[in-house]
Amino acid sequence: MGQWWQDAVIYQIYPRSFADGDGDGTGDLAGVRSRLPYLRRLGVDAIWFTPWYLSPLADGGYDVADYRVIDPAFGTLAEAEELIADAAALGIRTIIDVVPNHVSSEHAWFTAALAAGPGSPERERFWFRSGDERPTDWVSSFGGETWTRTKNPDGTPGEWYLHLFTPEQPDLNWNHPDVRREHEEILRFWFDRGVAGIRIDSATMPVKDPSLPELDEVEQHPYVDRDELHDIYRGWRAVADSYDPPRMLVGEIWLADAERFARYLRPDEMHTAFNFDLMGRPWAARELRESIRTTLAAHAPVDAPATWVLSNHDVTRPVTRYGRSDTAFSFASKRFGVPTDLELGRRRARAAALLTGALPGSLYLYQGDELGLPEVENLPLVALQDPMFHRSDGLDPGRDGCRVPLPWTTGGSTFGFSARGFGPWLPQPDDWGSHSVEAQELDPDSMLALYRSMLALRRDLPRSFQWHALDSDELLAFQRGEVLCLVNFGPEAVRLPPYQEVLLCSDDLTDDRLTTDVAVWLRLVHH
Ligand code: GLC
Repeated sequence: MGQWWQDAVIYQIYPRSFADGDGDGTGDLAGVRSRLPYLRRLGVDAIWFTPWYLSPLADGGYDVADYRVIDPAFGTLAEAEELIADAAALGIRTIIDVVPNHVSSEHAWFTAALAAGPGSPERERFWFRSGDERPTDWVSSFGGETWTRTKNPDGTPGEWYLHLFTPEQPDLNWNHPDVRREHEEILRFWFDRGVAGIRIDSATMPVKDPSLPELDEVEQHPYVDRDELHDIYRGWRAVADSYDPPRMLVGEIWLADAERFARYLRPDEMHTAFNFDLMGRPWAARELRESIRTTLAAHAPVDAPATWVLSNHDVTRPVTRYGRSDTAFSFASKRFGVPTDLELGRRRARAAALLTGALPGSLYLYQGDELGLPEVENLPLVALQDPMFHRSDGLDPGRDGCRVPLPWTTGGSTFGFSARGFGPWLPQPDDWGSHSVEAQELDPDSMLALYRSMLALRRDLPRSFQWHALDSDELLAFQRGEVLCLVNFGPEAVRLPPYQEVLLCSDDLTDDRLTTDVAVWLRLVHH
């Protein structure tokens, strides 16, 4: 018997934007609880919540002020426990986010460190340094500097502290035993409450070279993918394994080197990690085949299941991305005003859903992708909240465009997002209702209908995977037992091979021909 996480479908909930139960314009746990039947009907095995803890929201909740408190905008700890139990009763497991690299500048440890002053033990849990010069020239993942200078009580400049993200997210010092102990306790706190797994944020970044060298001064990167990390995750795995049933760990690991990536998936470390390679590839058979091959090859030696990810709360929605001339996602290339053909993008996103759904391993689905929501690119600038936008001097549009509150109904002032009519925290486009769950439930050809059928059929796919003889530079073709998945990337329509039954198709089939940017699942003829 396999473990649930080996082929699970995991639905990502960004709680601010999923459903608003109390009507204040911000999504919350009451909203999620009311929509659990929707998620069950969609056919997901687990939900992953991006951070739901107390947070001043300098980075959408990835600035955690207290891991043991649910942000009051979302609800209470008791509600979280009820939600976990309600979901479990419907057969849906809960995964939560833990952010080991940093805490919020409003976290009790950091406020204590500031109050206690230079040289204090409180400051040793972070990276404080003295001197007139900035300690390093490292560049923040959000652009700009990684050190901020504190002020002494008399107003003179004090010590610097390190933040790989915003100044409101001071980095923790993982050489400090308190940091390690505290995180293992946080895991236990949530596992004791029935959480089935942990998503580990920025998992390659927590450990730093204490000599704080510049990037070009040393062979090993001073803060990415350091060898010492593995021991930390072995400790987390031991905590996860001490539960019955054992809990699961999934890492956010952006690493180009497949072998370094796979190290995190050794049998006593994480169970799985997000595979971002596919998202970074253009929409082309050769590229995607290469991605699938290297992914499967990298996972095999460590005997870990692959994961398939088309998007998340950090990246451009697939419908928009696939409608552009550059279809590969990269943070560096995000700009305003890129020409986009949404019809083309939607066609490809439908095919991409069938492609990733057919691959062996676990599947991540970001809220709203099952509705084919486009990236919202015309949000008023004053509404934008993401530090990626603000820290790039407005050059990078940031990630708000994929975080717009979901449309549930065709009409109403918030398209069913809020129980009462207060404006949502990010404005929804006027035509949002046409993408709503209500609209799509009535339409057998909708993206929602496609996802529902795909997720249902996916359950019956065997573990086996084999490339098919038809696989070529224009056609991706692989088999899961008797089921053949074909995706046509070429300019010409392709005649289908002999088959017993068309299980799913991302578009209409005419005369048994698969047109450009269309995917199909066929049950093959028995021999
Ligand atoms: C991860 C999260 C992202 C967050 C960053 C800093 O990349 O997915 O949303 O901003 O970590 O915590």
